[in-house]
Amino acid sequence: MVRVGIIGATGYAGAELVRILINHPEVKLTTITSRQYAGVSFTDVYPAMSGLTDLVCEEFHFDTFCEKTDVVFTALPHKLPMEIIPKLLNKGKKVIDLSADFRFDNVDAYEAVYQAHTAKDLFKVSVYGLCEVNRDAIRHASLIGNPGCYPTTVLLALIPLLREGMIETTQIIADSKSGVSGAGRSLALATHFCEANEAFKAYKLDGHRHCPEMEEVLSKEAGTPISLTFVPHLLPMNRGMLSTIYTTITQDYSLTDIRHCFESFYKDRPFVRLYPDVKRPPDVKYVQYTNNCDIGFYVKPGTRRLVLISAIDNLVKGASGQAVQNMNIMMGIDETTGLR
Ligand SMILES: NC(=O)c1ccc[n+]([C@@H]2O[C@H](COP(=O)([O-])OP(=O)(O)OC[C@H]3O[C@@H](n4cnc5c(N)ncnc54)[C@H](OP(=O)(O)O)[C@@H]3O)[C@@H](O)[C@H]2O)c1
Repeated sequence: MVRVGIIGATGYAGAELVRILINHPEVKLTTITSRQYAGVSFTDVYPAMSGLTDLVCEEFHFDTFCEKTDVVFTALPHKLPMEIIPKLLNKGKKVIDLSADFRFDNVDAYEAVYQAHTAKDLFKVSVYGLCEVNRDAIRHASLIGNPGCYPTTVLLALIPLLREGMIETTQIIADSKSGVSGAGRSLALATHFCEANEAFKAYKLDGHRHCPEMEEVLSKEAGTPISLTFVPHLLPMNRGMLSTIYTTITQDYSLTDIRHCFESFYKDRPFVRLYPDVKRPPDVKYVQYTNNCDIGFYVKPGTRRLVLISAIDNLVKGASGQAVQNMNIMMGIDETTGLR
């Protein structure tokens, strides 16, 4: 049994980790932490879990936490993980960080949109945990930077085509929509019921932090700098994320050519499902509470305009499900364990 702990277990991503890990047959969830709910049973914070766990939230104490764990999930706001993780690694823990702190290769790109980084030396050590793309590197990793939710939708749709040179590297547009849980559980005006309900709007047009994360990965995959036009939107639903991506194919590829590219790239990747039937494109409803990423595609006849549609549950494949998938790969456990 792998002994697992979660730091920040009462946020939306942390709670989703609890939901998945208490059903994981090869894991024992030994400790969960929270400042606000220290001493409170997890089911008092999330009554929907009543009868499923008797875990009690604990204050984070480094030594006690380390004694109880082999693998650690940090589900904290960015900036906090970079302070804790170096010490966890020194104690021989394997760490999966759900924040942005260890997602980047380039320190300047991180610091331009977040803040000064205090553990830059770990950029050489951390692996970007996009499981379907980096599986081999994840196997040997001790630190995973779990991808952002928007990047998961966009990167899984674009990387197979970029690798084959089937799409132009200029003028890629990602029009993305997120459910409100994507913003976390902390109170904020934009996510109040009366602000979000019956509303639908774009936000952070002038620069969402996920854009440089995507550009770094896309540029590496393409071998040339890629500037992405990324427009996120807030949708009045609890969970779910869908990106519609507009791009241009480099030759007159048919839909069958596009499908073959995806089928070959994802042939032994159990969580990517293809939607070749244009009459039934991906829907956030089909992926709710699952670790799947559903990808559809369409080329308008007589043009080279390719439309890709990619849907996930932001809390599962976009956060905690992918984090558990990363743990499975790191620990030599079947990738799908606990996630079906
Ligand atoms: N929500 C998503 O869809 C999603 C998707 C991908 C990645 N992520 C990433 O996952 C991480 C967690 O996101 P979330 O949505 O779960 O956020 P959240 O709902 O706001 O939860 C944050 C968690 O961190 C703890 N925390 C907050 N401030 C802290 C502090 N100063 N010191 C220690 N603990 C603190 C909170 O509990 P206490 O205050 O009780 O300690 C809570 O458990 C973030 O880095 C986020 O970017 C989220």
